[in-house]
Amino acid sequence: MAISRGKAASKSKPKTVYACQACGYESPKWLGRCPDCGAWSSLAEELRQPAASLPPAAWGAAAEPVALRDVALEGEVRVPSGSSELDRVLGGGIVPGSVVLVGGDPGIGKSTILLQLCGAVAGRGKKVLYVSGEESPAQIKMRAERLGLAASGVLLAPETALERVVDLVGRLAPDILCVDSIQTLFTMDLGSAPGTVAQVRECAARLTILAKQRGMPLFLIGHTTKEGAIAGPRLLEHIVDSVLYFEGERGHAFRILRAVKNRFGSTNEIGVFEMGEAGLAEVANPSALFLSGRRGVAGSVVTAALEGTRPILLELQALVARTSFGLPRRTAVGIDTGRLLLLIAVLEKKVGLNLSGHDCYLSVAGGVRVSETALDLACALALASSLLDRPVGERTVVFGEVGLSGEVRAVGQAELRLAEAAKLGFTRCLLPEANLGRLSGRGPAGLELKGVASLERALQELG
Ligand code: TYD
Ligand code: MG
Repeated sequence: MAISRGKAASKSKPKTVYACQACGYESPKWLGRCPDCGAWSSLAEELRQPAASLPPAAWGAAAEPVALRDVALEGEVRVPSGSSELDRVLGGGIVPGSVVLVGGDPGIGKSTILLQLCGAVAGRGKKVLYVSGEESPAQIKMRAERLGLAASGVLLAPETALERVVDLVGRLAPDILCVDSIQTLFTMDLGSAPGTVAQVRECAARLTILAKQRGMPLFLIGHTTKEGAIAGPRLLEHIVDSVLYFEGERGHAFRILRAVKNRFGSTNEIGVFEMGEAGLAEVANPSALFLSGRRGVAGSVVTAALEGTRPILLELQALVARTSFGLPRRTAVGIDTGRLLLLIAVLEKKVGLNLSGHDCYLSVAGGVRVSETALDLACALALASSLLDRPVGERTVVFGEVGLSGEVRAVGQAELRLAEAAKLGFTRCLLPEANLGRLSGRGPAGLELKGVASLERALQELG
């Protein structure tokens, strides 16, 4: 927009307007309610001449178009992050010039994992700049001591002004830049406070341009707000190349790093870490971790879920108890409540179980969150097992999707799931008949396969 590209305007403080984030209405001053679309608290300050603040020389000449057939496939040079779990989530290492947003609740371990990454990269002789607006260098040093990185050459800068960070990058020319956190950064061009929509977006956008120009990887830490989005409604996800979310309960030691967006690798890939005395350690065998502490009681069923390319065995626990008062409760932890309600309806209508007078609780043990429909059969079996007080065999693993008519449908990657189950010593597997057909009845050695076509048929397998 060429509203204020004039000479006078480029010298004075840049012009800002307040724009409605819902409809785009613009006002010269802040308003509590957008007069155009009526949304409340939707106006955020925006800079009106972002292009003018960059010297034209910085843009360089336009790239020459290349015919698709002439594009050379160069081997990408990725920098290892020092952790194979993190590399997996990133899609195979750190890509030059990539911008990665690491989100998560406060205290989950974002600063820890980035400091570990910085330490590993600095250990390979690279220059690493860690800008922290949250902690002083002394505080970071204390963390580094726990992580065994006290002697590392990572450069620390306690800085919150974007302009000074840009200046530092220009002077030091680091190979990699980390910003902890994007919410503490502010640009002097905007009047809003740090952490507001306007500041977060503007700072991230300018740092992104900087990272792309220099081919320097940039890691941004972002705190999630109460609604789970990073600094407001998914504000930065379209600006950055990759978005990694840290999940996990604070009470549990393990943490899951999940890629929800990745321009340089597969999404839905996860890394599993355990928070210990010396920072985040990789968990090489997550299935064993998630199954630890299991007892083969009624209501407990082990299933094989797929996270990205990786099969993980999880324990589902159901508790079905008589409702003592009023409406029956249905609570799901780790899976979608809508899915639980659907499975209860199928169990009632298609199998004839009566759950209407029972509270139903279903949870994925260990605080993991999963959204795969391949867990349906195991969830339904866990509910039935708890209601009927009949355990599913302790060495049995179950997977399959359940349809609305009570049929059990095939799921993807059955071989991977079976291999993981066999690896952890399971001896029996209930799976969709259609999957069994495709495997021509054969699975890994030591694993007996039992194909089921309907939920009703599966329930007959309860002990
Ligand atoms: P931190 O990385 O500071 O969280 P974030 O940056 O996401 O807010 O991690 C904080 C938690 O991790 C804190 O409760 C202490 C714990 N912790 C350990 O248990 N072991 C360790 O070695 C470190 C460094 C932290
Ligand atoms: Mg932190």
